[in-house]
Amino acid sequence: MFKRSKIYVAGHAGLLGSALLRRLGSEGCGNVVTRARSVLDLTDQAQVDRFFREERPDYVFMAAGLTGGIMANKTRPAEFLHANISMQDNVFEACRRYEVKRAVFYGSSCIYPKGCPQPMKEEYLLAGPLEETSEPYAIAKIAGITACKAYNREDGVERFVALVPNSVYGPNDDFSLEGSHVLSALIRKITDAKEEGRDRVALWGSGSPLREFLFSDDAADASVFAILNARGRGHYNVGSGMEMSIRDLAKCIAGVVGYKGEITWDRSRPDGAKRKLLDSSRFATLGWRPKVTLDEGIAATCEWYSKNNSGGALCR
Ligand SMILES: NC(=O)c1ccc[n+]([C@@H]2O[C@H](COP(=O)([O-])OP(=O)(O)OC[C@H]3O[C@@H](n4cnc5c(N)ncnc54)[C@H](OP(=O)(O)O)[C@@H]3O)[C@@H](O)[C@H]2O)c1
Repeated sequence: MFKRSKIYVAGHAGLLGSALLRRLGSEGCGNVVTRARSVLDLTDQAQVDRFFREERPDYVFMAAGLTGGIMANKTRPAEFLHANISMQDNVFEACRRYEVKRAVFYGSSCIYPKGCPQPMKEEYLLAGPLEETSEPYAIAKIAGITACKAYNREDGVERFVALVPNSVYGPNDDFSLEGSHVLSALIRKITDAKEEGRDRVALWGSGSPLREFLFSDDAADASVFAILNARGRGHYNVGSGMEMSIRDLAKCIAGVVGYKGEITWDRSRPDGAKRKLLDSSRFATLGWRPKVTLDEGIAATCEWYSKNNSGGALCR
C-alpha cells in the first residue's frame, strides 16, 4: 500500500530530506514527489495550496524548515520564527484540506526547557523557560507539535505525527561556517586544517558539553517507521542513545580524517547546554532501534564532505 502511494518529501535537498529519498528508494516507493524551493516556496500559502490540490499526496514528510547553529539563531531570530511557523502552518492546513493520510512533522530537542533533567522526556515540554538563543526556533517547533495534536483532536483523525530527533548529521548537511551545527562544523574545520596543512585548529567552547547524535539514515528510517506505526497522543523523542563530548567528537573526527595537528579550545565562544540527551524509550516501545554506530556515521559523513568540498567550495 505505502510503496504504491504518492509521497511528498518537503525539503528533499536537505540533510533529512535527502536521507528520506534514499530510504524511500530502498523501500521501493516509486511515486515520490519533490519540488525545489525555487518553484514551491512553502512560506507562500497560495503556492502550497495549489501544489497539494494538483498533486494530492497520500503521505507527507515535512523535512523542510529553516535550521542553523548558534550563530544563525542569534542573528536571525525573527526569520527563524516566521519561516518555520509559516511553512509548517501552510503544510498542516493543506494536509487537512486535501486529506493526506499521514504526515510526519519534526520538532527539535531545543523545545525542552533550559537545564531540564536528563535524559529529556516528552512530558518535560513547556515545564520551564527555554534557552534564550534558540527560543524563536523552539517556539515555532512547539507550535508545530501543538498543531499536530490539535488537528488530530479536532478532526478525530490521527493524521499528524510529531517526531523530535536529536542532533541529526550525515551527507548533505550544512557545512557552511554560518549555518552548520556542531558535528558538521567540526568536520569542516578539522578537514580544512588538514587539507591546508595547518598544525593547529581552534574550536568553539570548552569541548566539555555532551551531545547525542543521530545519523540521517537512521532519522529517515525512524520517520518511515513512524508514518506506518506511530499512533496515539503527543510527540515522540527519537535519539540514538549515543552520547559523546565535543572534545571526544573532535578527536574522533581528527582520527578519521588523519589530522595530526593540535586541537585548541576557544573558551570565549559559547558552549550551549551542558548536556542534551533525549529519553527515546517511548518510541523504542513501538519497536524502532537505530542501526548506524557513531563511528560509522562519522566516517561516512567525513567521506562525503571530502568528496563534495573540493577546492573549498561550500557543499550547498
Ligand atoms: N538537523 C537536525 O539536527 C534536526 C534535528 C531535529 C529536527 N530537525 C528538523 O528537521 C527538518 C529538516 O532538517 P534538516 O536538518 O534536514 O534541514 P536542512 O538540511 O536545512 O534542509 C531544509 C530543507 O528545507 C528547505 N526549505 C527551507 N526553506 C524553504 C521554503 N521556504 N520553501 C521550501 N523549502 C524550503 C531547504 O531548501 P533549500 O535546499 O532550497 O535550502 C532544504 O531543502 C527541519 O524542520 C528541522 O527543524 C533537524
